[in-house]
Amino acid sequence: MPENSNHNQPNKRKRSCLIAISVILFLIFLLFIIALILALTVFKPKQPKTEILSAFVDGVAPRITFPAVWVELNITLNITINVENQNHASFRHGEGKTLLLYQGTQVGNANLYPGNIPARGNATLPCRLTLQVDKLANDMSKLISDVVGGEIMVETKTRIPGRVTFLGFIKKHAVAISECQLTIGFPDMKVKRQDCKSKAKL
Ligand SMILES: *[C@@H]1O[C@H](CO)[C@@H](O)[C@H](O)[C@H]1NC(C)=O
Ligand SMILES: *[C@@H]1O[C@H](CO)[C@@H](O)[C@H](O)[C@H]1NC(C)=O
Ligand SMILES: *[C@@H]1O[C@H](CO)[C@@H](O)[C@H](O)[C@H]1NC(C)=O
Repeated sequence: MPENSNHNQPNKRKRSCLIAISVILFLIFLLFIIALILALTVFKPKQPKTEILSAFVDGVAPRITFPAVWVELNITLNITINVENQNHASFRHGEGKTLLLYQGTQVGNANLYPGNIPARGNATLPCRLTLQVDKLANDMSKLISDVVGGEIMVETKTRIPGRVTFLGFIKKHAVAISECQLTIGFPDMKVKRQDCKSKAKL
């Protein structure tokens, strides 16, 4: 019957059109899921770990002067920082910075060389930090009691910003951050204790 076939034709077309749209939507959804899984796994940057490999003290043991009570202090810390890139992709980092703190006051800083750390590789960065005693004018009493006590505790804060590059074009920002506490003893001028925490902001 011609009437029936006339009615069926648009319905069939509508149905195959719906199927095509569903297939396309499903494929888009599938691509989205695959991209999401890749973003959350393979292309998710892991935090570069930083730690202090070694710390040496250059300088002479501090002395307290009289009658004008002042601490003569000339200490430089030689620090070697290890940056471990845990990614299966290279980590290119800019110039990092290390701050030296005493009782929460910044008493020195140093820049770290920029560089490129290959996938799953390490880089060691040298760093020389001089403790500037003049920055401590307000905190002399604590420093004097530390010098008398035979050790001072300083803190370092290292920040190394960079980029992890996946497949040569997917770039993700990553910042390696570490904080260390170092205890320097007198008069032997040795680092007696060191305690580091590594963290990263992605
Ligand atoms: C600090 O000590 C170094 C040697 O360790 C010396 O070369 C430098 O002149 C001293 N600086 C001051 C300000 O005393
Ligand atoms: C500290 O580093 C400087 C150069 O980076 C080096 O000449 C000096 O010998 C080092 N001192 C110590 C105690 O490692
Ligand atoms: C990188 O440094 C970490 C921590 O010091 C060490 O465990 C690892 O073996 C090093 N990896 C390479 C490739 O040297």
